[in-house]
Amino acid sequence: MRFLLLLAVPLVVAAAQTSFDTDVKPVLARTCTPCHQPGGQMYEKLPFDKADVVRGNKEGILRRLKGEDNKTVEKWLAEATFEPARDSGSTPGSARP
Ligand code: HEC
Repeated sequence: MRFLLLLAVPLVVAAAQTSFDTDVKPVLARTCTPCHQPGGQMYEKLPFDKADVVRGNKEGILRRLKGEDNKTVEKWLAEATFEPARDSGSTPGSARP
C-alpha cells in the first residue's frame, strides 16, 4: 500500500505545469528582492514580476539561480505557453485620426 503512494507522488508532480504566478514569481521575489521588485533600483528596467521580462532575460536569470530555484524557472521556460505580451501604451506607427 505504501509503495503505491510513493509511486503516485512523482507522477502528480511531473504532471503539474509550472505557472509564472505560483512558481516563478515567488522564486524571484524571494531571491531578487529588493532590486528587481516594486520599489527596487532595477524595477523600472527589469521588473521580475512580469513574465515576458523574465523570459527575455532567461540566460542572465538562470545564471544567478541555483538548485531548485533554477530548475523551477527552467521548467517554466521549457513548458509554458506564453501569452503574447500585453501592449501597454505603445501606439502603432500610423495613428488613425
Ligand atoms: C542588490 C540589488 C540586486 C539584486 C538583489 C539582484 N539584482 Fe539583478 N541587477 C541589479 C543591477 C544594479 C543590474 C544592472 C547592472 C548589472 O548588470 O549588474 C542588474 C541586472 C540584472 C540582469 C541583466 C544583466 C544580465 O546580467 O543579464 C539580470 C538578468 C539580473 N539582474 C538578474 C537578477 C536575478 C535573477 C536576481 C536574483 C537571483 C537579481 N538580479 C538580483 C541589481 C540586483
